[in-house]
Amino acid sequence: MGYRVVVAGATGNVGREMLNILAEREFPIAELAVLASSRSTGEEVDFGETGRKYKIQNIEHFDPTGWDMALFAIGSEATKVHAPRFAAAGCTVIDNSSLYRMDPDVPLIVPEVNPEAIDGYKARNIIANPNCSTAQMVVALKPIHDAATIKRVVVATYQSVSGAGKQGMDELFEQSRNIFVGDPALPTKFTKQIAFNVIPHIDSFLDDGSTKEEWKMVVETKKILGAKIKVVATCVRVPVFVGHSEAINIEMENELSAEDAQKILREAPGIMLIDKREDGGYVTPVECVGEYATFVSRVRDDSTVENGLALWCVSDNLRKGAALNAVQIAELLGRRHLKKAD
Ligand SMILES: NC(=O)c1ccc[n+]([C@@H]2O[C@H](COP(=O)([O-])OP(=O)(O)OC[C@H]3O[C@@H](n4cnc5c(N)ncnc54)[C@H](OP(=O)(O)O)[C@@H]3O)[C@@H](O)[C@H]2O)c1
Repeated sequence: MGYRVVVAGATGNVGREMLNILAEREFPIAELAVLASSRSTGEEVDFGETGRKYKIQNIEHFDPTGWDMALFAIGSEATKVHAPRFAAAGCTVIDNSSLYRMDPDVPLIVPEVNPEAIDGYKARNIIANPNCSTAQMVVALKPIHDAATIKRVVVATYQSVSGAGKQGMDELFEQSRNIFVGDPALPTKFTKQIAFNVIPHIDSFLDDGSTKEEWKMVVETKKILGAKIKVVATCVRVPVFVGHSEAINIEMENELSAEDAQKILREAPGIMLIDKREDGGYVTPVECVGEYATFVSRVRDDSTVENGLALWCVSDNLRKGAALNAVQIAELLGRRHLKKAD
């Protein structure tokens, strides 16, 4: 027994990880449908390492009536067409795109941070998953906010190319190879060469000179963690395949020493504190690939402000930043709102 579950975008980076994680966590599935566009209809995808394979169906022709939930990772344009159709048919949509995140009638959920907010999902039958950089940051900030009330956050991100989908990963691979054999490394997906380079630009520019990715970190953090928290972000694409890193400076209302922050973070849900203050005593993106945790390292006092802390935070953007968080939302939905699966 279990739920009738749809994974839409099952051929993509996030969709494939959602299938892996549903299998790993033995999510109670009575029936599974895997969907994508007409481009990949009929292809087969693996259900994790279970040995089971599923055939991709075209989302255009799929009738969601009678299905319990659909985990979407198909980009905003296709989501705009299909999410309302699935939701209206009674199939709850858990969406990875940015389309509904700031809709006041759609809960934006990180289960370790604001699980209770999921109760508002019935207004539209849609639940949003935050941006990958926001998700890991709020997991790290939540226990500090609970202990000392965060006033302001300054964050610089180091975001991997998998955050830009399959095309982003292909571009880093092709450019690296071309450079080694002396061929031109022309950008197509990114705005400049990404191999052996960094690009301080993710998503489109806004009127105030910031980018939409930076804006997302500001507004999504407020929606999830607290409207009063001020955030300023600089989002940078780096030549890493998987794993986003963040250098975070935090200003709090109340005093919290680095030592006390380490103690709190060590016990906090979803966090793995690795902070040895010696060569290699911290986590880098290569080590977080395939992991569930948000890793925190380099916790130290920031004496340039009253009640300041600085830390380093790393997580697998395809997992906590997308697929894992979506599956955790599905688990939360099941526990709090759906008929028992067994
Ligand atoms: N990558 C991340 O770190 C991350 C984090 C948070 C959120 N997200 C969001 O998750 C979504 C997917 O990202 P991704 O990285 O997995 O991208 P991706 O690797 O490029 O995969 C895109 C997926 O969407 C499907 N798709 C595209 N257009 C479609 C359409 N018109 N109808 C049905 N399916 C369609 C593709 O199917 P075909 O094979 O048929 O083309 C593919 O399965 C995006 O909204 C992205 O913003 C990504």
